[in-house]
Amino acid sequence: MTKELPNIAVLGATGVVGREILSILEENNVQYKSIKFLASARSAGSTIEFKGEKHTVIEATPEVFDDINICLASAGGETSKKFAPIAASKGCVYIDNSSAFRMEKDVPLVIAGVNDEDLRLHKGIIANPNCSTSQLMLPLKALDNKYKVKRMIVSTYQAVSGAGLKAINELTDNTKTNLVGMPFESSAFKYEIAFNVIPQIDSFCENSYTKEEMKVTNETRKILHFDDSVKISCTAVRVPVYIGHSESVCVEFENPINANDARELLKTTEGVEVVDDVDNFVYPTPKDAAGKNPVYVGRIRDSIAFDNGLEFFCVADNLRIGAALNTVRIAQKVISMQLY
Ligand code: A2P
Repeated sequence: MTKELPNIAVLGATGVVGREILSILEENNVQYKSIKFLASARSAGSTIEFKGEKHTVIEATPEVFDDINICLASAGGETSKKFAPIAASKGCVYIDNSSAFRMEKDVPLVIAGVNDEDLRLHKGIIANPNCSTSQLMLPLKALDNKYKVKRMIVSTYQAVSGAGLKAINELTDNTKTNLVGMPFESSAFKYEIAFNVIPQIDSFCENSYTKEEMKVTNETRKILHFDDSVKISCTAVRVPVYIGHSESVCVEFENPINANDARELLKTTEGVEVVDDVDNFVYPTPKDAAGKNPVYVGRIRDSIAFDNGLEFFCVADNLRIGAALNTVRIAQKVISMQLY
């Protein structure tokens, strides 16, 4: 029997990712019975425009979840720790953008189109992976299916929008201040981000990697069902770009691989667009990726560092595939697979 359309809510509707979720819900023409726009008490009562109409923002409270079937949440880890268990206990499917539940056993960590079947195991909470992990999964899954990943080394060049609205404004203010030769005091970042790169995203772990870097290792293993024998390391760097994360990726495979075959495979991979013609200086950049849905892959070449190795450059809109787009796609899968 087909279920009734769900009542949905967007938690964090006033934030950078929340707003992107709203525009993708509209773009993808997601069908629902009703929709609520949730945020903190700070913005309760303010209005938000959606599908050409103004809607009132409601404060997120436990009671709000009584009649919500699916919540698309991007309101930070602390908010999710508070509301996700409550929502789940009331029968709501809580799709969380924060890292709060990603590595928990009963919480599927899903990239739509990569490991959809994991959604069936949900117990009320579903996690959206970290942005740097997310954009890599579509090309990596296709390559792994054919060549079997053995080891991977990733270096990221991450846009400031991944750190929220405050960070976006700081890049603008910092740049303007530098250009007129005035001193600037950073607050969203440890160092000035204008005309600079910062090799730290999130705090450091005991092994001297950052939490952001370990997310790439651990989340990739969980999504692609790799065991610990697949070695993965990452260096995550913040760069003065507003939107679009870039990644330099070096992968060693079990099976022989060559760049031409890999390129052809990626050309037929859903969600991936190959932008790779170095003779004509064609390769992906974050400026081209901003506002778009595909994961762009270029600079595909045989690795000279590893046998059976492939190197490539991977670029995507971090607010879309890295956050809002995948959240909406998960919600669409939950609806089509009737998992609410
Ligand atoms: P608000 O606008 O009321 O602060 P960003 O990552 O761009 O800073 O956005 C964070 C989002 O999460 C905002 O929509 C923000 O709402 C929301 N948020 C933050 N804390 C809470 C909370 N305790 N309860 C509900 N929403 C929250």
